[in-house]
Amino acid sequence: MKYSFQFIFGAFLTMMFTMGCEQTTPYAPAENELLDGPLEGLTIAQQIKFLSGDEAFGDVFTIEKGLGPVFVANQCASCHPGDGKGSPFVEFVRFGQPDTLGNQFLEFGAPQLQHKAIPGFEPEQLPEGATTTKLIAPAVTGLGFLNFVSDQDLINLSDPNDIDGDGISGRPHWNNIPDYVTLRPNTISQNGKYISRFGKKAAAYNLLHQTSGAYNQDMGITSLFETIDPYSGLEEDPEVSTQTVNDVVFYLNTLKAPLQRDEGATSIIAGAQIFSEIKCASCHIPSLQTGYSPIEVLSYKEFHPYTDLLLHDMGSELDDQYTEGFALTSEWRTPPLWGLGLSKDAQGGSYFLMHDGRAGSIEQAISLHGGEGEASKNSFAQLSEVEKQQLIEFLESL
Ligand code: HEC
Ligand code: HEC
Repeated sequence: MKYSFQFIFGAFLTMMFTMGCEQTTPYAPAENELLDGPLEGLTIAQQIKFLSGDEAFGDVFTIEKGLGPVFVANQCASCHPGDGKGSPFVEFVRFGQPDTLGNQFLEFGAPQLQHKAIPGFEPEQLPEGATTTKLIAPAVTGLGFLNFVSDQDLINLSDPNDIDGDGISGRPHWNNIPDYVTLRPNTISQNGKYISRFGKKAAAYNLLHQTSGAYNQDMGITSLFETIDPYSGLEEDPEVSTQTVNDVVFYLNTLKAPLQRDEGATSIIAGAQIFSEIKCASCHIPSLQTGYSPIEVLSYKEFHPYTDLLLHDMGSELDDQYTEGFALTSEWRTPPLWGLGLSKDAQGGSYFLMHDGRAGSIEQAISLHGGEGEASKNSFAQLSEVEKQQLIEFLESL
């Protein structure tokens, strides 16, 4: 009985996975259309570590490997297909409350709703009184660059009190961080808090923090880093090895960054100009630099992510009344725009933009910008049709 369930479950997943691959790769894409692949210049030892991490990212968890008892999905890659953006078909729900006093629903399974369970167990239900947000997975490419931007650079980009008076006041997410993370070179702390930068609310300090959390909250897998099982609330032996977690972190650090396509085209150059003029570039910063990185190819490199990694108040329409760390409910971290034009390939042919995928096109995504993004949105509405087209073409080239 047990055997046959697992066999069918496994066969079903294999089928889903193969079907997924066939649908997303109907032809052999050019290098600059592919998201997955390592950075150039890795040593042989680093390439081997990258490959182990790549394999672990695609590893399907079964009951024997520790899946659940409650979970959201059974594989990193199922939500981050081809290392690209996920879609609402594999979204998840987080729940809590609007204030920043720490999640009051931890004993009810917060922050994440594990809506699936292995046989014999009940999936989680949303407790009464909790507020929720839906999140779709971001692409995971180029994250090593984002990881090694120095804290000081982020502080320099921020303007929490809007001293320059442009209506844009991004701030770093000063957050409590777990003991197990290794601090990044020259990290800066303020009253015991550190700048966290990954995730939609920038609540994770680094890729180890995000990855251990993903194993735990997305798949019900404990590690030496996140030891508490989300179902029992009790400490459990690690279900994934420290080496595997570290390999996945290395893989995420060394995935190449998306490359811009057709950047020399006249309309795309014009679009880039408009992007700056209407202040999109004030949050979606075109160029950043890494500081020192122990991974040599990531040290002191300029790159083009179109983010400032800061939190911005995006207005009431994007306020889900749910928060993490010390971010306000209306605050979101500027998402990188690199790979934007490729994201619909990973999303099944249509765009699903913004934190929950509610925008079906780039125009809709822009029209949802409120709060600190309001002025930029209004400037976009006043562009001529030709200018709008140039801006969109530029965004699709990223
Ligand atoms: C059920 C779907 C799902 C699964 C499974 C999943 N993720 Fe994610 N991932 C998401 C979502 C949604 C987010 C955004 C969440 C947030 O804001 O914290 C995310 C965010 C991330 C980020 C942050 C990227 C950024 O730009 O800030 C990383 C890194 C990541 N995931 C890695 C992983 C790894 C590694 C695994 C497997 C151990 C994994 N994910 C499994 C859905 C998933
Ligand atoms: C005040 C900072 C700010 C400004 C100015 C701004 N954005 Fe954004 N942008 C954000 C944030 C934050 C989000 C994420 C909101 C969410 O997930 O709900 C976002 C999301 C987006 C997205 C969706 C990305 C994705 O992966 O889902 C696009 C596209 C985008 N912005 C383009 C633009 C363009 C074009 C402009 C100029 C007209 C602009 N933005 C101006 C902060 C800004």
